[in-house]
Amino acid sequence: MPRELRRLPANHAAAALVLPLLLLAVRAPLRTSARPAPGPDYLRRGWLRLLAEGEGCAPCRPEECAAPRGCLAGRVLDACGCCWECANLEGQLCDLDPSAHFYGHCGEQLECQLDSGSDLSPGEVPEPLCVCSSQRPLCGSDGRTYAQICRLQEVARARPDANLTVVHPGPCESEPQIVSQPHDVWNVTGQDVIFGCEVFAYPMASIEWRKDGLDIQLPGDDPHISVQFRGGPQRFEVTGWLQIQAVRPSDEGTYRCLARNALGQAEASATLTVLTPDQLNSTGIPQLRSWNMIPEEEVDSEENEDYY
Ligand SMILES: *[C@@H]1O[C@H](CO)[C@@H](O)[C@H](O)[C@H]1NC(C)=O
Ligand SMILES: *[C@@H]1O[C@H](CO)[C@@H](O)[C@H](O)[C@H]1NC(C)=O
Ligand SMILES: *[C@@H]1O[C@H](CO)[C@@H](O)[C@H](O)[C@H]1NC(C)=O
Repeated sequence: MPRELRRLPANHAAAALVLPLLLLAVRAPLRTSARPAPGPDYLRRGWLRLLAEGEGCAPCRPEECAAPRGCLAGRVLDACGCCWECANLEGQLCDLDPSAHFYGHCGEQLECQLDSGSDLSPGEVPEPLCVCSSQRPLCGSDGRTYAQICRLQEVARARPDANLTVVHPGPCESEPQIVSQPHDVWNVTGQDVIFGCEVFAYPMASIEWRKDGLDIQLPGDDPHISVQFRGGPQRFEVTGWLQIQAVRPSDEGTYRCLARNALGQAEASATLTVLTPDQLNSTGIPQLRSWNMIPEEEVDSEENEDYY
């Protein structure tokens, strides 16, 4: 449709305005019947905006167009089919109808889809959003894994001089990287403590736990220690937990999470401090403050960005 628009002589600008409206009017019912309740609200807003901009479609003089810059999703033609403008990014609102120009159009490799999302409250109308046409991870020439092509292209456009390209589909082979490391913990005898360790690697890593000074892999034969692993929470990650039930002073020490795959290994450690009730009392700490959850969160989120 934008192509037809462009071919019309300039003095038919009024006709060019009416034509898409007629087509929209014809197409809208088809669309509503074919799709589950798309709520033609945004279509209507699109028409209103077309009307408002109607007199705006002057004869096209490409040399007068402002060149859009920093378009992370590429460029698309504007409502008049004349000048380039930035396309919409993944997750941004878009026009389901290709002839509408209200929210704008999605960039390369993106499709405008109704957000049939799970968290719609009853009666809420799903909104059309730009969605990446592929959800396959890729390995970029910067050695980083991208969740899908749209993410990689965004980064490539943001930093053109980095010459970022796709090396191969699937994640980059990578030695283990500890995405979230265990935190130092203290507690009073008799309480339970848990250390966690979240690892990204491809091929997937195995995790083991050790205590400094002990030459065994935990839990060994110690019935008050248990070890658990689970895949996730992100793709190509595995998370391990070490739980010590009813801690005793002899459990004090440094615990180490070791992650390994064919390419290498990584480790992170944290200390456990065990106070007897007497010791706790003499510190004068009014209640058990939780130190063990505090500041490393910021570090974690930075590391997360490396992957997704
Ligand atoms: C990107 O490619 C250009 C041209 O091929 C080259 O001059 C430049 O050094 C490259 N930059 C990097 C970071 O490889
Ligand atoms: C001590 O352990 C208990 C239960 O295991 C927990 O609720 C509490 O937050 C812990 N205290 C500290 C300081 O970590
Ligand atoms: C803590 O110390 C206070 C006095 O300093 C004492 O009265 C109290 O019994 C102590 N509590 C414990 C659990 O030792």
